[in-house]
Amino acid sequence: ARDTFHRFADVLVIGAGIAGLRAALEVPPDLSVLVVTKDRVTESNSSYAQGGIAGVRSPEDTFGNHVEDTLVAGDGLCSRDVVEMVVREAPQQIENLIAFGTKFDEENGQLALTREGGHSHRRIVHALGDSTGFEMMRATIAHARTRPNIRIWDDTFTIDLLTHDGACRGAVVARNGLGKLLIWAKQTVLASGGCGMVYRETTNPSVATGDGMAAAYRAGAELRDMEFMQFHPTVLYVAGSARYLISEAVRGEGAHLRDVNGERFMLKDDPRHELAPRDIVARAIFRTMERTQHPNVYLDLSHLDPAMVLNRFPGINRVCKSFGLDITKDRIPVRPGAHYMVGGVTVDAQGRTTVPGLWAAGEVTSSGLHGANRLASNSLIEGLVYGTHCGRGAAEAVRKMPRDMTAFPVRSVIPPDDDAGLDLADLLASLRGLMVRKMGIVRERARLLEAKEDLRFWCRYALSREFDGKAGWELQNLLTIARLMIAAALTREESRGTHFRSDFPARNDAAGWDRRHVVSEPFVA
Ligand code: SIN
Repeated sequence: ARDTFHRFADVLVIGAGIAGLRAALEVPPDLSVLVVTKDRVTESNSSYAQGGIAGVRSPEDTFGNHVEDTLVAGDGLCSRDVVEMVVREAPQQIENLIAFGTKFDEENGQLALTREGGHSHRRIVHALGDSTGFEMMRATIAHARTRPNIRIWDDTFTIDLLTHDGACRGAVVARNGLGKLLIWAKQTVLASGGCGMVYRETTNPSVATGDGMAAAYRAGAELRDMEFMQFHPTVLYVAGSARYLISEAVRGEGAHLRDVNGERFMLKDDPRHELAPRDIVARAIFRTMERTQHPNVYLDLSHLDPAMVLNRFPGINRVCKSFGLDITKDRIPVRPGAHYMVGGVTVDAQGRTTVPGLWAAGEVTSSGLHGANRLASNSLIEGLVYGTHCGRGAAEAVRKMPRDMTAFPVRSVIPPDDDAGLDLADLLASLRGLMVRKMGIVRERARLLEAKEDLRFWCRYALSREFDGKAGWELQNLLTIARLMIAAALTREESRGTHFRSDFPARNDAAGWDRRHVVSEPFVA
């Protein structure tokens, strides 16, 4: 086609968060790797991670404890083999990050360990107090840049995966200034993260628009567990501020949650109080906001040692201070926001998707680690473990393929259309509002059916258009993902983990829901 160019790589990695870079670093130096990311390489959910990375390090802790905590949080839907594998590999992955140059916080000459909701022991390493992701990504990006076989392209949007004879052969991308490019790759690793932007309230940066999930779906990959969007309980709620995450580690260090009247409501809600798994805390906050008719609850750190608070949470302090809040004295207004997509592209333990030649790692996947609800700080470790497996597996697969690569004729599945008259910002705002109202923390069949109908209508005219830029492609991807999420939420007629149906308020193992993953209907062009 006009202004189309071809590029070749042994391994194409889509996404430059921790999972993507870890995959790239695992590919041996004699194979070429191209990493593409749609924004700057520093702009990913990984970079914004505050709390830290879970891994057993303390002599009081055991792999068994970490496995048990993960299974309890996952509410009966985790794959035990996957949990055991990730937990066992976690300590070595943390050592590797240190070898890449990550400086984790220390206490008495040892790595400092914190707690978060659902963890029975202190096992979370952190950096720069509450900017773990920033420090980890700084070191990992710098390390990746020393590898001559790894090229990193920023400003490169993946529009679709290329498939031929049912196998993935790379991707069609739009690179700033160069128009559309076809990247032909022997193996492709998808590590493009989540889709928090499908909700009006989210902790995610604006890049989290589910592009990789939607592209994998269009390429025929299986997606599952899309009903499980995790809401983080404590997102700063101040008019005029971005929805900034207030790390769970704040509660791990002893902060209390109070309603507008000052009552510590978690005392009667769960024996683990503020450190119950986050689905339980998020729902308790939701009920409290309804009961008090107040748009938020409050985090209270005023009983904690001010020096410890300022030393542990410098980033949170900086942001709160910019709104005139002193975190050592003032109560911090918070409410839940969409945080992490538990579901995604189905992968096996090596990171293989159901499409040959396509691997996936990190938030874009459903690996079986998180079950119905992710344990705090288990996501960076999942990205590291699966990134490593994907990089290794993709490299081994490349070695079994012919040396030369072929470009194939390309057919677009989207017929060109006239996009006049479509206000993208308006449709995006409508979608994000609808998801909060009808597909939020508490769901119910009648509201879900209304949402399904709205989505059907919007998709009919928005998905048939061929857009020529990021805003249109992102909107199409978000609409696609929202439709899959609503369909999955309607299908799962029980409540489990992050998925709560007021019309089916109990977990229902007797009906087999503890053994069943909701798999998305196949894509029809
Ligand atoms: C947090 O710092 O609360 C986020 C940790 C996580 O989502 O794993």
